[in-house]
Amino acid sequence: MMQDRKTLRRQLRQQRNALTPRQQKIAAAQALRYLGRQLWFRRARHIALYLPNDGELDTAPIIDLCRSQGKHLYLPVLHPVRHNRLWFTPYTRRTPMRLNRYRIAEPIPQGRPRRPAFALDLVLMPLVGFSASGGRLGMGGGYYDRTFAYRMRSKGLRGPKLVGLAHDFQRRNELPLEPWDVPLDAILTDRCCYRISY
Ligand SMILES: Nc1ncnc2c1ncn2[C@@H]1O[C@H](COP(=O)(O)OP(=O)(O)OP(=O)(O)O)[C@@H](O)[C@H]1O
Ligand SMILES: [Mg+2]
Repeated sequence: MMQDRKTLRRQLRQQRNALTPRQQKIAAAQALRYLGRQLWFRRARHIALYLPNDGELDTAPIIDLCRSQGKHLYLPVLHPVRHNRLWFTPYTRRTPMRLNRYRIAEPIPQGRPRRPAFALDLVLMPLVGFSASGGRLGMGGGYYDRTFAYRMRSKGLRGPKLVGLAHDFQRRNELPLEPWDVPLDAILTDRCCYRISY
């Protein structure tokens, strides 16, 4: 029987929070290897990602690689006007940071040039659970879903490639999905890269 979203979130979050720092480090290093092989990654110049929290796959090695390759990085911040949507603000070594209400580090807004979602090449997003066919279960805020909701209305609309980053154990054969859940183009884990063909 398929579990409800609440139970599944609790179970998967518990599982990833139980990983040791060493396991996290190995997983992040493995995921980096698979990422480096992807053509869509090599081509991407403007990339949004996240800083890990709650046992999420660590992005530190990806950040280092991107910086060494001169790619432009962005972090999500809450949109000042459009309710519960994300904007993306540049993230460099010099970006001043603060803790937000979820105690996650985020850039301090400085009138820096922010990017709307559609002006990015690639978005590497966190998730709680995924299916190999591109289903995504997040933490329950609906932020990514609202931000990329345009994809549900017109499939042909161009925008960034949406890729989930996760530990491979976060995969489920069946996910309790809702109509507003925006599907992913690929999921990258410590074990492989799942490509979705629609
Ligand atoms: N496009 C949308 N427009 C309005 N509300 C939305 C939209 N997408 C999701 N929501 C609302 O957001 C709430 C949370 O959605 P959901 O449980 O899918 O979050 P999530 O995918 O886990 O979170 P996130 O997207 O932040 O990772 C739901 O109650 C849903 O009604
Ligand atoms: Mg969702």
